[in-house]
Amino acid sequence: EEEAAAEEEEESSGLDSSSDEELDDGGVEATDVFESKEPASSCQVVEVKEVKKEEKKEARKESGPAPSKQPSQPAVFIHVDRLPEMQEARLRLPVLAEEQVIMEAVKENSFVVLCGETGSGKTTQVPQFLYEAGYASGIIGVTEPRRVAAVSMSHRVAKEMNLSTSLVSYQIRYEGNVTADTKIKFMTDGVLLKEIQKDFLLQRYSVIIIDEAHERSVYTDILIGLLSRIVPLRNKKGLPMKLIVMSATLRVEDFTENRKLFPVPPPVIKVEARQFPVSVHFNKRTPLEDYSGEAEVHSVCRRLRRAFPFRRGRTATDTAEEMRRFKKVKLKKTVSLPRIDLDNYSALPVDEGDEDRQAGIDEEEGSDLELGDPPADDEEKADPSLPLYVLPLYSLLSPEQQAKVFRPPPPGTRLCVVATNVAETSLTIPGIKYVVDCGRVKKRFYDRVTGVSSFKVTWTSQASANQRAGRAGRTEPGHCYRLYSSAVFGDFSLFSEAEITRRPVEDLVLQMKDLNIDKVVNFPFPTPPSTEALVAAEQLLVSLGALEEPPRTRLSCPISPLGRAMASFPVAPRYAKMLALGKQQDCLPYVIAVVAAMTVREIFEDLDRPAATEDESSTLAQRRARLTQMRRLWAGQGASLLLGDLMVLLGAVGACEFAGCTPKFCEENGLRYKAMLEIRRLRGQLTNAVNSVCPEVGVFVDSKMAPPTESQVVCLRQIVLAGLGDHLARRVQQEELLDPKWRNGYKTPLLDEPVYIHPSSALFKTLPPFVVYQEVLETTKMYMKGVSAVEPEWVPQILTRYCHFGSPLEVPSPWFCPSTGRIKCHCTSTFFRCGWQLPAVEMD
Ligand code: CDP
Ligand code: MG
Repeated sequence: EEEAAAEEEEESSGLDSSSDEELDDGGVEATDVFESKEPASSCQVVEVKEVKKEEKKEARKESGPAPSKQPSQPAVFIHVDRLPEMQEARLRLPVLAEEQVIMEAVKENSFVVLCGETGSGKTTQVPQFLYEAGYASGIIGVTEPRRVAAVSMSHRVAKEMNLSTSLVSYQIRYEGNVTADTKIKFMTDGVLLKEIQKDFLLQRYSVIIIDEAHERSVYTDILIGLLSRIVPLRNKKGLPMKLIVMSATLRVEDFTENRKLFPVPPPVIKVEARQFPVSVHFNKRTPLEDYSGEAEVHSVCRRLRRAFPFRRGRTATDTAEEMRRFKKVKLKKTVSLPRIDLDNYSALPVDEGDEDRQAGIDEEEGSDLELGDPPADDEEKADPSLPLYVLPLYSLLSPEQQAKVFRPPPPGTRLCVVATNVAETSLTIPGIKYVVDCGRVKKRFYDRVTGVSSFKVTWTSQASANQRAGRAGRTEPGHCYRLYSSAVFGDFSLFSEAEITRRPVEDLVLQMKDLNIDKVVNFPFPTPPSTEALVAAEQLLVSLGALEEPPRTRLSCPISPLGRAMASFPVAPRYAKMLALGKQQDCLPYVIAVVAAMTVREIFEDLDRPAATEDESSTLAQRRARLTQMRRLWAGQGASLLLGDLMVLLGAVGACEFAGCTPKFCEENGLRYKAMLEIRRLRGQLTNAVNSVCPEVGVFVDSKMAPPTESQVVCLRQIVLAGLGDHLARRVQQEELLDPKWRNGYKTPLLDEPVYIHPSSALFKTLPPFVVYQEVLETTKMYMKGVSAVEPEWVPQILTRYCHFGSPLEVPSPWFCPSTGRIKCHCTSTFFRCGWQLPAVEMD
């Protein structure tokens, strides 16, 4: 009772002190802004009043003479000397017609929302409007969720404005061309988030434009939440700043109707785009199954190039090397893709004469679809016999490669771009007339059991599919071929859900704490994650030591130094903890390899699948036998065997790298080649991250990694335990075997049912008394995968935050320790979630 009373007292005194905090003295930190005063409802009222006051103050200021320190205050109109052809192209953009409306709204309001179809000119023109209207006394910052867009838009705007890239620049994670003179800066949302960490008021900026807000990327959402507080603070300090949120689809209620975010709804300006009709054709057959991203973009490009090569004799001025390759390929007429059903339903306006065209193409019944085969009346515009000039487009492609899609194709060819969804809204490729939509999207998903993020390919939403179709009608009427049926389309969700609701929040909470946003529950998310998810995340982070224990109230734990290090690693916090501990005993290269292997899903080929033919059945059996043998070899003997499945992962990575990571090695040993490549990439990335956090370690990727020594294995096992502590399982003891189903079973803190070590595990026969697991997978039983053995005495030593310790007073024989000069005693310990008895530990 006393304790509770003391806690309460602390709580209230804590609140008092935080509400007394002066925002105006010195540097402002996120803590000052987001440690708001409890109940949400009353808090909202306070906020409304505050902002209204600020708005008035700002309005007063704007009507008076402009104080010198106001980067956002339009000073003078700046003349831009554009090339005539650029000016002409601009004038055709729908957004130009709204320039005055937009600029007046920006002048009158701190927050403005701008909506308009993709291609209407938002990204390229709004920064120019602001520049011309004199807002460039500070930097005009534009954030993009994708790197491609940041780079390409900065080049485009520089060209349109006839300015050098030292004035119109970009910054993405590892590169940029920003100078001291930069006036317009395109950057990824992650870059701006890092800048907020350094200067919470973003004093160098006069305007921030959050572009592509409809994508609802987590960073975009957080940025909008942060800026909803930063802008009023700036206004209060007499350094006015503007926030413009730009979005393609018209679903902006999450921003405008969210009173926690904007107490006064910001004005919404809609730009009507010129959109030509697009005929939509659905497919009746089964859709493409094997879509999974970049690799497929390449393979489709290859297939198309082979099918539509440049013909001999034609001249092309561009890309000599491409041409040489094309000349070697034989001419083929058609490309084999699922055939489109033309009699099906159209979702978008059908242009006149469409029925005739459908009939025309119908005659080709039985032959494969010729992609982009144009209807008869378009003949002179796009000759179907022209070869395709095929280019890939995706985020990780080099900027030079990406820029190619914006240039006209070589004469005598038709441009065909094979793109990921980067072409959906971020980039408008000029003159696209046909869109082939696979209907898929690759999204990051969260596995609640493992806490590991993974990418999955799923159906997209109706809004996205219509957006994709719309890309065909930018310059003239177009066609969209959907490689799925109208029934499938009908089952799509209407809109894509915000990323934040379908991903783990531990890492997000850690990132926000790293920004000193301690009360994450009070953060004005456009779409908030559930409170339970936030609470669970905070608890896990406290257990991992990434956050300090609650100082005053629950749910406001500040980040610890360990947490700061963890926040800089691009993996989920459990794994980041392992990396942070990896320095010991030269274990780091092993920890990096194990973490990389653990975060890449399923590195082994699925050899248990049913065989298609008898031949395959025998090959499968052979490979299973081979893999079992290799697993045994990789698992090692003695100490290393106790590292269990993680030793198998480490062994597989080591052996594969030693062999040069070839497809042949992977094939022979039942490893997925793609997964091994991914691990290699991740090892490089994690190594860089570790080096930048602690340069003194100087770790490097060693392709010829020697197996770990016995003491290193022990160290690795403890590191893994420290990261996966909440995934501890205890073998059921003989006396507890009330029900036969518990035989060989394990108890876990969160599940009522027994879980078992998976038969494929290196520890299947060993059955150690305590294990940690990576995930529980439910098939015929609940199986633990990624299992590693734990020595019981490590649990109270390493997982102190998960344990209860008996009172030292109950212990009979304390002793004096001469080396530390302290009194020591043995304390009993239990695993707190389930009261498991653990060995007694020595304590001071
Ligand atoms: O942002 P929003 O989607 O509203 O349009 P935008 O990206 O500003 O594009 C406006 C126009 O500029 C489009 O018609 C693009 O085709 C064109 N553009 C271009 O030709 N080259 C680029 N590198 C970027 C845009
Ligand atoms: Mg745009």
